[in-house]
Amino acid sequence: MVEEISIEQLDEIVKKTIEALENGKKQIFEIAESARQEWKDLEVKLAELQSKVKEAIEEVERLSLLEKESRYRLMVVSKNFKLYGEDDIKKAYDIARELQIKLALKRENEQYLIAQRTELEMRIRRAREIVERAEYLVTHVAVAMNYLVDALTNISSTIHELQKKEMMGIRIITAQEQERQRLARDIHDGPAQSLSNIVLKCELCEKLLDRDIEKARKQIGELKQLVKSSLQEIRRIIFDLRPMSLDDLGLVPTLQRYVSTFIEDTGIDVALEVYDLDENAVDKVVEVAVFRIVQEALSNIKKHSKATKVHIKMYVKDGFLIARIADNGIGFDKEKVEGQKRADIHEGGFGIYGMKQRAELLKGKLTVQSQEGKGTTVSLQIPINTIEKEG
Ligand SMILES: Nc1ncnc2c1ncn2[C@@H]1O[C@H](COP(=O)(O)OP(=O)(O)OP(=O)(O)O)[C@@H](O)[C@H]1O
Ligand SMILES: [Mg+2]
Repeated sequence: MVEEISIEQLDEIVKKTIEALENGKKQIFEIAESARQEWKDLEVKLAELQSKVKEAIEEVERLSLLEKESRYRLMVVSKNFKLYGEDDIKKAYDIARELQIKLALKRENEQYLIAQRTELEMRIRRAREIVERAEYLVTHVAVAMNYLVDALTNISSTIHELQKKEMMGIRIITAQEQERQRLARDIHDGPAQSLSNIVLKCELCEKLLDRDIEKARKQIGELKQLVKSSLQEIRRIIFDLRPMSLDDLGLVPTLQRYVSTFIEDTGIDVALEVYDLDENAVDKVVEVAVFRIVQEALSNIKKHSKATKVHIKMYVKDGFLIARIADNGIGFDKEKVEGQKRADIHEGGFGIYGMKQRAELLKGKLTVQSQEGKGTTVSLQIPINTIEKEG
């Protein structure tokens, strides 16, 4: 048997798994966020750098023009010894030299800025890739998580269902055993007791026959009564087991008989209202099921309800037999009863479950509505034909 504890552990595992996934999703989300922030910062830096690069290029262009001019001047000055003195040459040389150095420095600076820009562009591309991948992951993890959460919750509810079925199996067996015990007790206390009394009375009659014929006659009269009542008792037990009239007379007369015995037995006022019900149209298995369900509903009313009135309504509509058994008793809180049942699976409580099972086996549906202080209503809806018609 699957133990109750394991489902709690499973629930815990499921919870932890989902939590871990949630966490992972959050982390990916955070990564995406910080990558996006970095991307934004880098874009700002790039814009700044871009204008620096532009400035540097312009500066290099300007300087190279100047430097070209200075070289030209130097050439002119150094070719015209007559026009220019040594000082002039030196000055022109110095200017050209200075401009050359400046230009070289600026070029270097320009190269450095361009390299920086290339690197920035690469970093931006990488950040964008991270953002895109993280976003892709976030959506995919979300989808996968939905699947997983569904599947995991299904697993735990499936196991729950299985456990319930298993417990119900045990309950069914226990209920069957109790039913047999009750029958054995009924026969032991009733007919068996009566039969042993009958044997004693027969022996007494045998003795009296020779001595006192009048007394013997009286004893035989009592004997007849005893046999009669035992017969009645045996018939009742048989009827409880499987009303033969269900096969001979059909559902409605059997119900009528059952209800009148119930009224005699309990003093509860039961109104049986049946209409639009052609018994030939209703399958035998369905009749048996309906009878058993009414039987259990009435037995619950007798055992638990403290009702004074019961209304049973039954009719056929659109291929379904509809039945409602309503009492004006104390009602009950379904959740409380369910809770009690779960707490001790060996504790009776097979009745309502059995009714439901019976109805569902024949593709029908049974619901129990009840409210404390407001009575109970059992509603049944069951197809009158269980065998699918061909064609
Ligand atoms: N008509 C009713 N009025 C009041 N309480 C009811 C009625 N029918 C059922 N109950 C409550 O619901 C519980 C479950 O009913 P159910 O028939 O499943 O079990 P049970 O009658 O206790 O046991 P079993 O039918 O196996 O002998 C009952 O114990 C009772 O508390
Ligand atoms: Mg019951």
